[in-house]
Amino acid sequence: MTKKIGILTAGGDCPGLNAAIRGVAKTAIIEYGMEVLGFHDGYKGLIDNDYTALTESSVSGILTQGGTILGTSREKPFKKSEDRNGELKTDKIVENYNNLELDCLVCIGGNGTIKTAHKLSKLGLNVIAIPKTIDNDVWGTDLTFGFDSAVSICTDAIDRLHTTGNSHKRIMIIEVMGHNAGWIALYAGLAGGGDVILIPEIECDIDTVANYLHKRHTQGKPVSIVVVAEGVYEQKNNSFNAHQLAQKIEEITGIETRSTVLGYIQRGGTPTATDRILATCYGRYAAQLISKEKYNQLVVFKNNCVSHIPLKESAGKLKTVKPDEMIVTAARALGVCFGDGE
Ligand code: F6P
Repeated sequence: MTKKIGILTAGGDCPGLNAAIRGVAKTAIIEYGMEVLGFHDGYKGLIDNDYTALTESSVSGILTQGGTILGTSREKPFKKSEDRNGELKTDKIVENYNNLELDCLVCIGGNGTIKTAHKLSKLGLNVIAIPKTIDNDVWGTDLTFGFDSAVSICTDAIDRLHTTGNSHKRIMIIEVMGHNAGWIALYAGLAGGGDVILIPEIECDIDTVANYLHKRHTQGKPVSIVVVAEGVYEQKNNSFNAHQLAQKIEEITGIETRSTVLGYIQRGGTPTATDRILATCYGRYAAQLISKEKYNQLVVFKNNCVSHIPLKESAGKLKTVKPDEMIVTAARALGVCFGDGE
């Protein structure tokens, strides 16, 4: 029997989404003769039965395109469970899934998407999840696609901050995304030669940071780069933003300090080669699992190869930076300050 599958992209967008859509659809169509439907705007499209049939030509030429041709949303059908007519959104999802006679739904997204996919599997839908997010905080996989592109964008930005900081002998602060994890700040901070890297997983203290920066200055190093993960602001005694942090550091050290919030630039543009390859291989593998009717799995990247784990093992968990992570100890060995006085 020819299988019929649905694909949706949900949560924050990132480079590589179209490569993943293409990887699933082309493999499903060419290798397994499946019928493929693309649902618009994440789970919203599934609730509203809003989809487009995907063909080889409709996914041709999208590998290098940022964003998602299907659109995305942060619709959480189990959270805001009723629609404006008082109908349960999850009932509509199950009804649409069954009426369309889908064999499986491929959900491409981060933690929220994976959690919803797992809950839908408990309502009887067959699902496969593909880990997508610039945050790289999906438990169970070494890498999510989108992360490498975000790290490259941030590293390029840090390189540019070095040149303007050198010209003005300033301390330059850059705030990067990452939600409640510090992976982007850690990787881009090391790649960009950051002197201070602040991440939510390591409790930091502004005075410690300021003293470190002042000491650098007295040692004839007037220019410093401080990379701050946005999640740091959730730390109990750090309810500040990048601009306030800059003001405080300038106040304490007497050194001109400027801040840059990189924001959504980290999620735009064409995917890196790494993300194109990872997303494509994730997509292909998802189609393979469906062909074997191996449902309710999360596709992962472990020990340098693509494999899968049961969805329930990842759903609801977060992969955060461990303080003894190799890259943290490497950074410390190079004298990078994490604001914790170590
Ligand atoms: O999850 C990706 C991400 O970019 C986070 O790093 C960031 O905190 C969040 O999305 C921003 O959410 P939104 O796109 O809804 O503003």
